[in-house]
Amino acid sequence: MKALVLSGGSGTRMRPFTYSMPKQLMPIANRPVLEHVLENIRELGVSEVGVVVGDREPEIAAVLGDGSRLGLELTYIRQEQPLGLAHCVKIARDFLGEDDFVMYLGDNMLPTGVREIAEEFAARRPTAQVVVQRVADPRAFGVAEVAPDGRVTRLVEKPERPNSDLALTGVYFFTAAVHQAIDRITPSARGELEITDALQWLVSYGATVLAREYTGYWKDTGRVEDVLDCNRELLARVEGAVAGLVDADSDLTGAVVVEPGARVVRSRIVGPAIVGAGSRVVDSRVGPYTSIGRDCRLLDTAVEDSIVLDGASVSRVPALRGSLIGRSAAVTSADAGSAHNRLVVGDHTQVEVAA
Ligand code: G1P
Repeated sequence: MKALVLSGGSGTRMRPFTYSMPKQLMPIANRPVLEHVLENIRELGVSEVGVVVGDREPEIAAVLGDGSRLGLELTYIRQEQPLGLAHCVKIARDFLGEDDFVMYLGDNMLPTGVREIAEEFAARRPTAQVVVQRVADPRAFGVAEVAPDGRVTRLVEKPERPNSDLALTGVYFFTAAVHQAIDRITPSARGELEITDALQWLVSYGATVLAREYTGYWKDTGRVEDVLDCNRELLARVEGAVAGLVDADSDLTGAVVVEPGARVVRSRIVGPAIVGAGSRVVDSRVGPYTSIGRDCRLLDTAVEDSIVLDGASVSRVPALRGSLIGRSAAVTSADAGSAHNRLVVGDHTQVEVAA
């Protein structure tokens, strides 16, 4: 089996971050979403992975390289325009050949993995198998109607009136029969070749498409709130490990990771939390549920339930919570005695100050 990871898309809901980084590189528990995805794929015993990329290819390739660091063999496949998930499969045709493959959306996190579902696909070998989850409002997803025996009877992309609460997660298993379906479908109202339509084409022609419910944590990391939620979820699974320096006046409680070259001085870190390599935390309180990236500076600050990206600095800020601080951003309090907030804020940024 091969894998196809879809890492195009413009990430408009993740602005301003996506002006300077593709959303799939957003760190969750200090590792890019894409690395978590690729790790899940490696757990399936798959090593040949096609990565469909758009114009953010250079940034993605700079982080993932040829995949050898992750024990994988990556092939980058360029999609010039975002013409849909089924279009991604179409342009990956040469890479996929006649092999079965798992398709994984590069911004979807299913941290407990899909190994059992992959094993069921390999054993029963339906034409295709989708991974579904019950959701309160399925209208934002592809929706599957499923018979009691697990066979999909109908699929609709983002229906206004869903007939089922089973949403398609970002993971699909296919045999090569899907290529024929993709050659037959036409673009949807949003101008994309929908993988949901290709699956429906298979169902209409009597092919067996199975649905398997995934009950673990699932998040499409498309928005800041989702990224923070996912960070909490992943940090809750982290085991503490201190490789950096923690001075005698500091105190660590719970699962705390202090990466190599990081220094914690006169500070309190409440796990789960990670302090990234090369970062300095001085006279501060960090956590719980906080990831500090690499080479950050925290001074006289308290931050919880937040992500601070590489190279950012936060100084003299007494209470940050639920925040996502961009790379090399600087957050600081005003000079003593000042009654004003001074903000230099980029496009599409969201700032909430205490009233
Ligand atoms: C895509 C698929 C949809 C699926 C969703 C999962 O939607 O088209 O069927 O439920 O991913 O995240 P999109 O993210 O393109 O809106």
